[in-house]
Amino acid sequence: MANILCIGAGYVGGPTMAVIAKNCPQHRVVVVDINEAKIAAWMSDDLPIYEPGLLEVVKAARGRNLFFSTEINKNIDEADIIFVSVNTPTKTFGRGAGKAADLQWWEKTARQIVDNSSHSKIVVEKSTLPVRTAEAMERILNSNDRGLHFDVLSNPEFLAEGTAVDDMEAPDRVLIGGRDTESGRKAVQALADVYATWIPRERILTTGLWSSELSKLVANAFLAQRVSSINAVSALCEKTEADVTEIAKAIGMDRRIGSNFLKAGVGFGGSCFQKDILNLVYLCQHYGLNEAAEYWEQVVKMNNWQQQRFVSEMITAMFNTVAGKRIALLGAAFKADTGDTRESPALAVCRSLLEERAHVVLSDPYALENARADLGKLADKVIFEPDPYKATEGAHAIAVLTDWKAYAKLDFARMFKSMTHPAFVFDGRNILDRKALFDLGFNVYAIGKPAMTHFENGK
Ligand code: UDX
Ligand code: ADP
Repeated sequence: MANILCIGAGYVGGPTMAVIAKNCPQHRVVVVDINEAKIAAWMSDDLPIYEPGLLEVVKAARGRNLFFSTEINKNIDEADIIFVSVNTPTKTFGRGAGKAADLQWWEKTARQIVDNSSHSKIVVEKSTLPVRTAEAMERILNSNDRGLHFDVLSNPEFLAEGTAVDDMEAPDRVLIGGRDTESGRKAVQALADVYATWIPRERILTTGLWSSELSKLVANAFLAQRVSSINAVSALCEKTEADVTEIAKAIGMDRRIGSNFLKAGVGFGGSCFQKDILNLVYLCQHYGLNEAAEYWEQVVKMNNWQQQRFVSEMITAMFNTVAGKRIALLGAAFKADTGDTRESPALAVCRSLLEERAHVVLSDPYALENARADLGKLADKVIFEPDPYKATEGAHAIAVLTDWKAYAKLDFARMFKSMTHPAFVFDGRNILDRKALFDLGFNVYAIGKPAMTHFENGK
């Protein structure tokens, strides 16, 4: 039996530990956080994050071998393996601002671990971190004069929000990076043994520390790059009357390319993609690899352009002004099946429309609370309305910004009747039936597809 501790009860720590605890009744798993409200929510049936299937997993283990607590120091001392999944946001100040990761929480946590340990431990990096962070951590952890030894492992997270439980239950791979020393190899083995309780050994990949740290950044960069690539193509489609969905299918059937992550849309969001790419860019710049840095930076630039292009298209279509017009935004979350709004393109669109003095109504089944917090002062200018029918009443336009399945099944005839005419739909996720909407009387715009309008010149 091992005592496993996770510091940081967020989108990564919470689901990861819940699945470990559920599958490993032989281990005791404790999740701690400085945020008392968050810990209280993890102990209730109203979890702090919306994630399909998570409550069932939490309930299966909570109180048995899964515990949530704010007592960080005591739990550090009792632990054998400590996962660290505290925030590592992009730095907003000083050297590397806007690109490098802000490691202050990580370093504080490392110091807290040394200060509260009376026996040697394995410390696992779970948060995304720049390459060679483990080295700094090893130095801080092992600079104690009590003879304690800490093995630092990198075990990056590949779960995606909305499918976190399935991704953890049956991952494509688990990656564990460690030192090629006797105690490093032992530590890697100990962590691999935890995962091997439910994951086939051949899917547990062990590498050196630096490869593991860098793999996480590279995986996200590759995924984001695919989205930016198809979005770049979507812009060309709109000019040439090609259809980006048809192109994605045509190229995706080539097994060398593959069909996943080729959905054009209003852009990628989420806490990882942009942050990780900027991190990669910073690393490349740090090592003087400016061409490589520029290459990856373009993925983020393309994503920003796609979001602004979408807003620009809306304004142009609506006779070059949205000032004073009610616009219903369906979706605030950065993708379906999560309440997370971090870097959500929906909020970028919302901010731009507010700048144009539109009256924005924001609707979402789960993300409005987070959206309100993220928008800060601007939230006062937004109407938050969970009911999409109420949100669209009197609106000039609907913009679909999150791919919630329910949005494709809405009664658009009912909405059309309650809207201001001419009525517009901008499908930022290509989930609606354009022809059906057009037949109802809407002027329909989608990503990477010809517009369908009732105006004379077809524009
Ligand atoms: C991502 C990685 O997938 C995951 O492995 C890593 O651990 C964390 O970062 P996540 O951000 O939760 O996960 O969601 P993901 O499904 O990757 O989607 C990211 C963004 O890309 C979303 O905004 C999504 O809407 C967008 N996207 C994705 C597209 O626009 N088109 C696609 O084809 C796929
Ligand atoms: P992620 O998506 O990486 O999980 P989150 O922001 O959802 O990011 O979660 C990070 C969590 O780490 C937050 O709940 C935050 O309160 C917690 N946290 C940050 N610093 C510390 C710390 N020093 N000790 C314990 N928890 C911390």
